Amino acid sequence: MRITVFTIFPELIRAACQPSILGAAIEKGILSVTAVDPRDHTTDRHRKVDDVPFGGGGGMVMMAAPLALALDERLHAEPVDVRPRIVFLSPGGVPFHQGLAQEFSGEESLYLVCGRYKGIDDRVRCEYATDEISIGDYVLSGGELPALVVIDSVMRLLPGALGDFASAEDDSIQSGLLGAPEYTRPREFRGAEVPEVLLTGHHDNVRRWRRRAALRRTLARRPDLLEQAPLTAEDQEVLEELRAELDLERGSVKRGRRPRAEE
Ligand code: ADE
Repeated sequence: MRITVFTIFPELIRAACQPSILGAAIEKGILSVTAVDPRDHTTDRHRKVDDVPFGGGGGMVMMAAPLALALDERLHAEPVDVRPRIVFLSPGGVPFHQGLAQEFSGEESLYLVCGRYKGIDDRVRCEYATDEISIGDYVLSGGELPALVVIDSVMRLLPGALGDFASAEDDSIQSGLLGAPEYTRPREFRGAEVPEVLLTGHHDNVRRWRRRAALRRTLARRPDLLEQAPLTAEDQEVLEELRAELDLERGSVKRGRRPRAEE
């Protein structure tokens, strides 16, 4: 898949795309990430991309023309049968989630448009955006970090990007639940033991323990996820037990208590 990021800080995107799993996936040719700078579509001596807002108020607004010209140039270079998904990153967008990452990972060409300053002249969004997304209810200095969040989450879903594709399917959230806790050697750390069942090599018991731990964590921290998660009849039974367990614990004095493994 091809990802094109429109940003006045292309070096931020390029630098983040070199190391780690993302860099390796690009190297393997599983995806490409190209950063396009709207400044290259300015005609004035200062390569100006922002201006004061109509109606007054502080801050600057990203001008329509340089960004629109950058988008036009890339759109014209696309194969005739490809219509890229054009995603604007903004704190006013719809919340980003795994389902969207899954959808985006099926696109041949994905454009990510990063705002800076107070935002982008809204006429560009109206003309080009197919989506507008936010990565959370906080304001960042620009859309570059959110774009990298999207790129990373999409890349993980591309076949071959992770050494072991099963690990993307096991990812916390991908299954609709939070992940179970994980442990590695040593078996004992500062008096805390790894849960016994994980040492037994009994795959079915390990699978059941992990599922229960994931359900417990989700119930305690993100019960909203349970409304959408695909749950079996066995899961529902386990959840009934866990609800009773959690109610009991909430009723008892918790101060000073160490969290259990599944919390
Ligand atoms: N740009 C600035 N803040 C943002 C956020 N929270 N999500 C997406 N884009 C942004």
